[in-house]
Amino acid sequence: MKRVDDFRWRLGGRELVPIVIGGMGVDISTAELALEAARLGGVGHISDAMVHTVTDRHFDTKFVKEKLQQYKFNVANPDKSVVRFDLGRIAEATRLHVGHTMERKRGDGLILVNCMEKLSMNAPRETLRVRLAAALDAGIDGITLAAGLHLSSLALIEDHPRFRDAKLGIIVSSLRALQLFLKKSFRTGRLPDYIVVEGPLAGGHLGFGLDWTRHDLASIVAEIRRYLVSEKLDIPLIPAGGIFTGSDAAGFLENGASAVQVATRFTVTRECGLPDEVKQRYFEVTEEGIEVNMISPTGYPMRMLSSSPAIGAGIRPNCEAYGYLLDGSGGCSYIAAYHREMAAHPGARRVPVTDKTCLCTQMRNFDVWTCGHYAYRLKDTSRRREDGGYQLLTVEHVFQDYQFSTDGRIALPEEGKGA
Ligand SMILES: Cc1cc2nc3c(=O)[nH]c(=O)nc-3n(C[C@H](O)[C@H](O)[C@H](O)COP(=O)(O)O)c2cc1C
Repeated sequence: MKRVDDFRWRLGGRELVPIVIGGMGVDISTAELALEAARLGGVGHISDAMVHTVTDRHFDTKFVKEKLQQYKFNVANPDKSVVRFDLGRIAEATRLHVGHTMERKRGDGLILVNCMEKLSMNAPRETLRVRLAAALDAGIDGITLAAGLHLSSLALIEDHPRFRDAKLGIIVSSLRALQLFLKKSFRTGRLPDYIVVEGPLAGGHLGFGLDWTRHDLASIVAEIRRYLVSEKLDIPLIPAGGIFTGSDAAGFLENGASAVQVATRFTVTRECGLPDEVKQRYFEVTEEGIEVNMISPTGYPMRMLSSSPAIGAGIRPNCEAYGYLLDGSGGCSYIAAYHREMAAHPGARRVPVTDKTCLCTQMRNFDVWTCGHYAYRLKDTSRRREDGGYQLLTVEHVFQDYQFSTDGRIALPEEGKGA
């Protein structure tokens, strides 16, 4: 049987190892993680989700504090329509985050930015246009359009000087979503350069309903491939979701995929942005400890560890500081859920909110422990330390395990190497 290293694919004039590390929002896929993927000849993603928070954490900026200061008067008001992002500040933060990452890039790979349409930031079109344009200005190799249908996203940047040279891709979970996108993108004369097909076993938000168990990645990929062939469209396909071993990956490549997108196995690497104690929770989780629920205000199901502190936490909405999910009219389904519970418990200082979560605050604090379906197998990818914890891995180790392993095997790290 072949292994991943027997395959290469081309994007942006480069010959690449066919491993793409998916974007993991709010600084879980850090610049360091993405840089390693590029150094090793593959593709890494950073994410532009909550970019103010990310730059405040890594650079000496105070974007979040300034925005909170400006809108502090509104914190008790359930109507958040006055809370607006300053477009200049979004551009500044995006340029910092992307620019600083690209300056440090080494090796033959590429670095892309994952851009979620569902982060509507109380002015969906205007903010998305700035986010996309600023990432291109700052030299990103390409943009992966994620979480949302993105039907007008390409048109937002069609006048940008890099519109034709930067690599632009889309994540879809069905042929229908792809067809809708292609119909729109034909009008800009610009097809996507790659298509990530994300199946129901992925981490993060899912492009399926709660009937996700009725779908499977290989069938969706096959259906999309038949369609592309029939339309004579030659666009690289990149399956994602539940590809846990090098052999799983090689299987997709043998069936015509150009590359695979993977993420969960990298959550337990040193370079991953999750706090180290959270990485241990990922190692320890059992199959029963993972759920798909509807607590994300985006309306999409999300997969996470059932022990995620975000589940049931009834904190006051923090839209004045964050507000990334505000829909353009000052609404977010968490705000409604929170005020419903407050009204039902008059006088209570804190109320549990179980149906929705304040996703911005919880992602900012690394309290949504989102993961792919096979996270319960992470314990089989490392060694137990004497203190009972698991040895953290390195991106290089996991990347090369995908690249070189065969027969469904997973290489354990050298004892003591990693952390
Ligand atoms: C912790 C985590 C966070 C994620 N965040 C995002 C995100 O912000 N945007 C996105 O498009 N996909 C996100 N994903 C999905 C991944 O990019 C990827 O497509 C998918 O998880 C691959 O499946 P695997 O995790 O089974 O390898 C996330 C996945 C994980 C595990």
